[in-house]
Amino acid sequence: MNRPYIFCHMITSIDGKIDGTHKSIPARGENAFDFYQLAFGEDAYYHLDGWLSGRATSEAAFTKGMQPMIDENAAPVPDGDYIAKTDLTKYYVSIDPSGKLGWETNSIQYRDTEAHVIEVLTEKASNGYKAMLRSLEISYIIAGEELLDYEQLLSKLKEQFKIETLMLGGGGVLNWSFIQAGFCDEVSMLIAPFADGSAQTHALFQTKEGMTEDIPVAFDLEHVEKRDNGAVWLRYKVIGKVE
Ligand SMILES: NC(=O)c1ccc[n+]([C@@H]2O[C@H](COP(=O)([O-])OP(=O)(O)OC[C@H]3O[C@@H](n4cnc5c(N)ncnc54)[C@H](OP(=O)(O)O)[C@@H]3O)[C@@H](O)[C@H]2O)c1
Repeated sequence: MNRPYIFCHMITSIDGKIDGTHKSIPARGENAFDFYQLAFGEDAYYHLDGWLSGRATSEAAFTKGMQPMIDENAAPVPDGDYIAKTDLTKYYVSIDPSGKLGWETNSIQYRDTEAHVIEVLTEKASNGYKAMLRSLEISYIIAGEELLDYEQLLSKLKEQFKIETLMLGGGGVLNWSFIQAGFCDEVSMLIAPFADGSAQTHALFQTKEGMTEDIPVAFDLEHVEKRDNGAVWLRYKVIGKVE
C-alpha cells in the first residue's frame, strides 16, 4: 500500500514509563530537550512531515480537557474529508475516533515547532463536531466506520497531505495499536535516567480492551548510543508479531 514511513519516537524512564512523577524532576528537562532535538531540531536525525498522537495525549498536551463547543443544530456538512488551507509545513495528526477533543485553534505549538492539526475521525463522529472543526479551519479525515481503518488513514495522509515520514508520538495505546496492526517500521526510544516505580502510569506500549491484544512482537536492535545527561538512545527495526 501507499503509506508513509512510520517510526515511533518516545522518551521513557528506565522502567519504560512515559508519564509519572519522574517527569517533574528538573534534570529530566535536559533529556526532554535532547529527545526533541532528535526529531525536530535543526540538525535532527529524523525528518518528519507529521506526527500522530492518541486522543488522551492530545487532551493532556493541547486541549487540556476542554469540551468541544458543538452546535447540535449545525447545517449538515458535506460528506467526506475536509482539507483546510495552511501555510504550515508540519502536521499534528490526532486520532480522535468519536470526536471528543475540545480544539480551539487549528495549530499546535511544541517548543519551536508549529503544526497544523488534522483530526482523524470515524463515522461515529457527529455532524456537529465536524461542523465545529470546519468553523475552526481544522482539517479532518474520516477513516473507518466504528474502528480505525489504518490503510485508509495512511494512504490519505500520504496522498492528500504529502506526508512521506510520519512519527508515532504516543501514548502507549496509540503506539501499540499501530505496531500490532503492522504499521510501524522503526522504534526509537530515549531512556532518561529516572524512574518512580508507579504502578498506575502509562508504559511505552499498552493494550486496550476491544482494540489490541498482547500478541508478542519482535524487534531487531539497530543502534545504541550513550547520550548526554545519562540517557541512552536505542533504535530498533520492527520485525513483527511472533505468533
Ligand atoms: N513520554 C513521551 O514521549 C510521551 C509521548 C506522548 C504521550 N505521553 C503520555 O501518554 C499518556 C497518554 O497515553 P495513553 O496510552 O493513555 O493514550 P493515547 O494513546 O494518547 O490515547 C488513546 C486513545 O486514542 C484513541 N486511539 C489511539 N489509537 C487508536 C486506534 N488505533 N484506533 C482507534 N482509536 C485510537 C482512542 O481514543 P478514544 O478513547 O476516544 O476512543 C484511545 O483510547 C499521557 O499521559 C501523555 O502525557 C508521553
